[in-house]
Amino acid sequence: MSFDYKRGVLHAENVALDRLAEQFGTPLYVYSQAMIASNWKRFADHWPAPHKLCYAVKANSNLAVLNLLARLGAGFDIVSGGELARVIAAGGKASNVVFSGVAKSREEMAYALEQGIYCFNVESAAELERLNDVAAAHGVIAPVSLRVNPDVDAQTHPYIATGLKANKFGIAMQDARDVARRGQALAHINMQGLDCHIGSQILSMSPFLDAADILLNLVTDLRAEGINITHLDMGGGIGIPYQQENTPDVSTYLHALQERAEKVGNLTLLLEPGRAIVGNAGVLLTQVEFHKPGADKDFLLVDAGMNDLMRPALYQAYHDIIPVAQHEADKAIVDVVGPVCETGDFLGHARHLSAKEGDLLAVMNAGAYGFTMSSNYNTRPRAAEVMVHGDHAQLIRQREVLSDLWKGEQIMEMPR
Ligand code: LLP
Repeated sequence: MSFDYKRGVLHAENVALDRLAEQFGTPLYVYSQAMIASNWKRFADHWPAPHKLCYAVKANSNLAVLNLLARLGAGFDIVSGGELARVIAAGGKASNVVFSGVAKSREEMAYALEQGIYCFNVESAAELERLNDVAAAHGVIAPVSLRVNPDVDAQTHPYIATGLKANKFGIAMQDARDVARRGQALAHINMQGLDCHIGSQILSMSPFLDAADILLNLVTDLRAEGINITHLDMGGGIGIPYQQENTPDVSTYLHALQERAEKVGNLTLLLEPGRAIVGNAGVLLTQVEFHKPGADKDFLLVDAGMNDLMRPALYQAYHDIIPVAQHEADKAIVDVVGPVCETGDFLGHARHLSAKEGDLLAVMNAGAYGFTMSSNYNTRPRAAEVMVHGDHAQLIRQREVLSDLWKGEQIMEMPR
């Protein structure tokens, strides 16, 4: 395990978290390089070439994380021109990038074409026409996969389910053939793949396999029409245990996909895992400002808020919160809440904890959708980030300073 107690103090690999808090301050994101690498290997070991793994950059886009994954041979799934620029800045290859997202701008398309990405995951008929135009203007042919919405229920939080008819994502099944035919007819489109992404934090394998069956049937149908689909991208979405939930076994899932694809033949598979690579590889360190007894319950007021970790406020997500220094003091039931002026600003409700002013707490499993979703709400500088590797800890993102927060703002000039 990468986050363990040693001599009564929680460590990231071999580095004590109290030492990191002292050196870099709090709130602080701390990642374990070994954990990210071993999560990656868990996928890569069961995914022989030519199949590809494209890490979903949105989960954690720090350059150090992207660089580590690039060195492990990762491709990347991006959803903006900004994410592509990050991948390139981190040493990733554009030729290993797939570009997802429902509303790609002309500028983003042009930039991705110039960089020579592997594939555009196209989500609508209108996007296909726009991409054809932009590719024509550049005198190139855009590699395309159609993102189909297979209408399967991923049984996850409604905000992160994406594969239902009611969601904005992907091309409806009944339109997919027509859009593929149109792609085949357009001069600056090369129809090469199909993809889907049915949601995130999915805890059972069956919705993934149902979606795979639906897409594989479509591959066969399109091939029969002479549209030569050569790759199938099943997106991301494998959940992780936040509260000891059972999660799908990665190798069983990957083998089940490969078995199905082999029946169809000549098909390269892609996956876009995010959370499963970085989720359990990060913690958010926070310090207790006050213990405040309340009329109904007590509060632990900590220095990290919803602007630092939005998941509890946005999805009522559960993250374990544990003390950095183990102790025997009597525990009480407390709400762990942040400094932001909103009742929704909490990290955990009704937790069994004992902590006093100055104590450090670790919010667990915060490596995915933690820092990347953080904001400056309440004019709070975003946290620093540190990567640990064995005995070594390195600052991989400086804490913002206040002047960063109003950079580019201007006071109105007064008319004379
Ligand atoms: N591919 C596409 C097209 C996606 O939209 C996503 C995530 C992924 C891959 C990666 O999914 P993962 O393997 O991480 O489940 N902010 C939410 C999660 C939103 C996920 C959005 N799409 C959260 O904190 O739970």
